[in-house]
Amino acid sequence: MTIFAAGTPAPEVAATPRETTRTARTRHYVMTPPTFFAVEYAINPWMDPDVVVDPGAAMRQWEALRQTYQGLGHTVELVDSVAGLPDMVYAANGGLVVNGNAVVARFAYPQRAAEADAYADWMHRNGYPPRTTRHVNEGQGDLLVAGSLLLAGFGFRTERRAHDEIAAIVGMPVVSLELVDPRFYHLDTALAVLDDTTIAYYPPAFSDHSRAVLAELFPDAIEVASADAYVLGLNAVSDGLHVVLPAAATGFIEQLHAAGFRPVGVDLSELLKGGGSVKCCTLEVYQ
Ligand code: ARG
Repeated sequence: MTIFAAGTPAPEVAATPRETTRTARTRHYVMTPPTFFAVEYAINPWMDPDVVVDPGAAMRQWEALRQTYQGLGHTVELVDSVAGLPDMVYAANGGLVVNGNAVVARFAYPQRAAEADAYADWMHRNGYPPRTTRHVNEGQGDLLVAGSLLLAGFGFRTERRAHDEIAAIVGMPVVSLELVDPRFYHLDTALAVLDDTTIAYYPPAFSDHSRAVLAELFPDAIEVASADAYVLGLNAVSDGLHVVLPAAATGFIEQLHAAGFRPVGVDLSELLKGGGSVKCCTLEVYQ
């Protein structure tokens, strides 16, 4: 506890935006610059190869995201982008690293298959020998750590059968969640983990059974409205206090404030053209 001499104001109290009991934990992220980013094919409903992408703007927006993380005190490591892999900027899909165990992605579409080699290389070089799965898994796009649980999506990309393989590799209980709306084709487009016990999600993206499971496990969850979900507001990255998310998700930003989080809005409009935003661009090394 800090003791202030009588009559000495405590300036940091006045400077605190809002009282909160939430706390940040320093994180370790892996990102890949959008050097070769393009929308050349359509493998999700957000992608339209006829829409013009501004590569310079994509790079500036991505750079601002990286600086946002660094400004919050987090570590950001980079994986080199590879020519011919235009979706590689969505680093979350590269795999899952948790408690020293690593699973590398097995992509659903051939256009992204070779990205797995680049992320496996990074894992090897950093002392996380990558394990592979027989069934499709798209890494942290569909695999989100919430405290001691692994929340795992299926329905569009990651196969349900991969969930058991991954549970065995990382030694964590898996909660399988079924996605039913093609706009929300990865779990991280429909659900954000805010801290070990708090999530936010968009209920219509899930099957009735999965909605019931989420309501039971996370009674305090924030349910976001369609307007926020449709700007990929849930594609967010939280350190337990600060939540970095698409600035256009204004309703969700209000809800986060009210729940004691500190939302940090960023603009990734160019990367939205590929069907991804903040979380898609961020692979967290969970420690
Ligand atoms: N164009 C990419 C795909 O369809 C976007 C991936 C977004 N990543 C994510 N984690 N949701 O595969």
